[in-house]
Parts: sequence; C-alpha cells; structure tokens
Amino acid sequence: MALYSEKVMDHFRNPRNVGVIEDANGIGEVGNAKCGDIMKMYLKIEDDIVQDVKFETFGCGSAIASSSMATELIKGKPVSEAMKLTNKAVAEALDGLPAYKMHCSVLAEEAIQSALEDYQKRTGKTIE
Ligand code: FES
Repeated sequence: MALYSEKVMDHFRNPRNVGVIEDANGIGEVGNAKCGDIMKMYLKIEDDIVQDVKFETFGCGSAIASSSMATELIKGKPVSEAMKLTNKAVAEALDGLPAYKMHCSVLAEEAIQSALEDYQKRTGKTIE
C-alpha cells in the first residue's frame, strides 16, 4: 500500500490557496517544536464568512497537504464552521495520513484556530 494517498500527493504537489492576504483580518502562526515546521494562515472574513484564506507553510509534505486541504474546507464557510474544523476532518478529507504524520494535520487545525482568535481580538467579535 502506498504510504500517502493520492489526495495527499495531489495537495502536496499542487497546493491550493498558497500565499499571503495583504488585508487579512485574521492571521495565525503556529509551529511544532519537535519537527520545526511552521504554518501561517491568513483569513479575510466578511459578514461572518471566510471569504478568502491563504497559507504559507515551511514544513513537510503532509503539512503542506494538510494546510491546502484545510483552506479548501473552510473557504466560503461561516466562521462558526471554520472554528469547528478538526485535524481529524482534515486527515479524513485527505483520505488519511500515516499515524506518525497526524501531527501535521494538527498544525493546520491550530493555525486556523489561531487566525480565528486573532480575528476575534481585532474585531471584538465572538465566534459562537
Ligand atoms: Fe512536522 Fe509534518 S513533520 S508538520
């Protein structure tokens, strides 16, 4: 069996939503001390909807694929839904990750959480 699913390979080779949003109103950056990988998420939220999302990931292939899939899963969605995105949902959408690579999907969940927290701080809004 291949170590990585087709979807992981696809999102690693052709990551969606890579880059920076200049006028983002939620930015989150997280890292994993063990592997040294870093992920940064930019959110543009309007009317409680994630209108745009971009990421920059300095990390392994699974981290890049996880960031890419995570952005696809929250783009165009209400912030309340983005808030509930779990690393498990990201890994499932990628048709699975090897057990020792699950922490890469955790980074994606944490980066989005951190960007949403930043959004709440900047705007004074609370996401229910
Ligand atoms: Fe650390 Fe993938 S090895 S995020």
